[in-house]
Amino acid sequence: MAENYKRYTVTAALPYANGPVHIGHLAGVYLPADIYVRYLRAQNRDVKFICGSDEHGVPITIRAKKEGITPQQAVDKYHELIKQSFEDFNVSFDIYDRTSSKIHHETASDFFLKLYNDGKFIEQTTQQYYDEEAKQFLADRYIVGTCPKCGNENAYGDQCESCGSTLNATDLINPKSTLSGAVPVMRETKHWYLPLNEYEAWLREWIVEGHKSDWKPNVYGQCKSWIDQGLQPRAVTRDLDWGVPVPVKGAEGKVLYVWFDAPIGYISATKALTPDWEKYWKDKETKLVHFIGKDNIVFHCIIFPAMLKAHGDYILPDNVPANEFLNLEGDKISTSRNWAVWLHEYLQDFPGKGDVLRYMLCANAPETKDNDFTWKDYQSRNNNELLAILGNFINRAVVLTQKYYNGAVPERGELTDYDKEVLGVLEGMPLVISTYLERYRFRDALSELMNLARLGNKYLADTEPWKLIKTDEERVKTIMNIALQISASLNILMEPFLPASAQKLSNMLNKPVGKWAEAGAADLLAVGHVIGTPELMFEKIEDAAVEAQVQKLLDTKKANEAANAVAEPAKENITFEEFSKMDIRIGTILAAEKVAKTKKLLKLTIDTGIDQRTVVSGIAEFFNPEDIIGQQVSILVNLAPRDIKGITSQGMILMAENSDGSLAFVQPSKQIMNGGGVS
Ligand code: MF3
Ligand code: ZN
Repeated sequence: MAENYKRYTVTAALPYANGPVHIGHLAGVYLPADIYVRYLRAQNRDVKFICGSDEHGVPITIRAKKEGITPQQAVDKYHELIKQSFEDFNVSFDIYDRTSSKIHHETASDFFLKLYNDGKFIEQTTQQYYDEEAKQFLADRYIVGTCPKCGNENAYGDQCESCGSTLNATDLINPKSTLSGAVPVMRETKHWYLPLNEYEAWLREWIVEGHKSDWKPNVYGQCKSWIDQGLQPRAVTRDLDWGVPVPVKGAEGKVLYVWFDAPIGYISATKALTPDWEKYWKDKETKLVHFIGKDNIVFHCIIFPAMLKAHGDYILPDNVPANEFLNLEGDKISTSRNWAVWLHEYLQDFPGKGDVLRYMLCANAPETKDNDFTWKDYQSRNNNELLAILGNFINRAVVLTQKYYNGAVPERGELTDYDKEVLGVLEGMPLVISTYLERYRFRDALSELMNLARLGNKYLADTEPWKLIKTDEERVKTIMNIALQISASLNILMEPFLPASAQKLSNMLNKPVGKWAEAGAADLLAVGHVIGTPELMFEKIEDAAVEAQVQKLLDTKKANEAANAVAEPAKENITFEEFSKMDIRIGTILAAEKVAKTKKLLKLTIDTGIDQRTVVSGIAEFFNPEDIIGQQVSILVNLAPRDIKGITSQGMILMAENSDGSLAFVQPSKQIMNGGGVS
């Protein structure tokens, strides 16, 4: 497809170096960005793919404090981990830089100075929240409170993650320091503000008028609603000791706001990548595209563009294809609750299966709404799609070619209408897929790719060369030639989505992965070309493997519940006389059986020392009857008898309850005579 751009600068949001990356990151940002860039490269377009670690701001200092290390140690550790994960998943950045680098500090500093010298900031001394215990101003994630827009009680000082609003710390209702839990006081401090209100009219024209039809509805809608609500000046500096120092007099101890310096990181990284960096940022014939998650929309669509506009030298993004969020097994992905599939852990559990996750996350990408990742779905996408459709087709084509022709591509004879139809679909496919890709519709693009594999499968199933070989060898040559041509096109078209598998297929076909323009052709593999040996592109994923993952998540849930459990407050005081009215004894369970037609009830026979009696107890979910016979328990023997499901229950077994609702007997620490009193 012809485009008016000479080159592309594609950025993917710089992840905070405060933890490893998980499937939500990959699905939302890095995978679509990588597919897009790989596609552009296959189109021979001039593209730079830029990313790096976001190493400043409160998210980093909080993490470092939690781990008892310095912010520098924290970013060093996570930068390496994140970088490795991206490499392992074949996310093909041209550079993965970091914002603690010297070039970045200089670039961000110069950027600020230019705006400062051009009079683009307003300088304001205001009252800001200060934590007297921690002796520190509270900005961004150091402060939480209730969001004035949606009522979320855990909104941060700069943003509410629930409704996506950007906030100033002073907007929060009931603010609280996350450092000490203290209610903050007001203290005076000076900061520099970017007067976003002055850019409102321009932003309205640029986005609301200009990008109505080409930006995704979720992105456009968020931007429009912010602009409609009216924009306020935003502080671009902070009282913090970790970040890029504010390069002006009277700003000692202050740093640039992380959301001011981080997007400049895209520019710094391009500088670090190539001396030609200016073309990629200043030439109008460069198409700038930011891949991000939805919580980053305001920063990339409003604040950063306003900064670029204020600076004056830079181009603006042509598009910001933000995704919604991916959930995991029905719950929001959360680093603090460890509710995530971490990329580095996935590869330990499923070595060599990076492409399977790429496939699954693209097929299920949260492009237009939040989506859910389930391990069942993961398994079925692998077994029923990758393996059964794509893998199966390729395998048949390659294996039969080896078997019938020792790997040499046979010649086509006369074509049937069916052959012509199949070749026609093949020819049209690259355009269908690229049209989706150019519109950032990766799910649709992938599903068309699979349709081509499906077509190949159907073609072989319909023509049955393995039967025909006995009666019509000439016809089989034509069929196998066509199957191989489809395979060769699939190799090109699948590369952006499944790069490792594409490499395998390329080995099998004994031909480098070609360029996009070649795909769809009926003669990609020349007659007589000798292909390589078959290998398996995908393998079956067994129930046990995904069940283990589900179990891991269940364990996480349990651990979280236990960690969050708080004991109930004490009940009202009673007198000793009131307590001594209760006659509690030690007894032994003589018999136990389930009460018919109930889930929870066990009928127990207890030797109380006084007598043998029947007690109905709601413990069947936690104990097998046979396991508890002979155990000693505590029993309240003077509870008035009650009828439960037609059985008279005489007394009550004392149970202790755990955070997950599970129950345990209250037992003596050594054998006690039946009837021994508890007091
Ligand atoms: N670190 C931010 C996040 O993880 C993203 C920063 S994107 C950049 O949400 F543009 F600022 F670099
Ligand atoms: Zn909110």
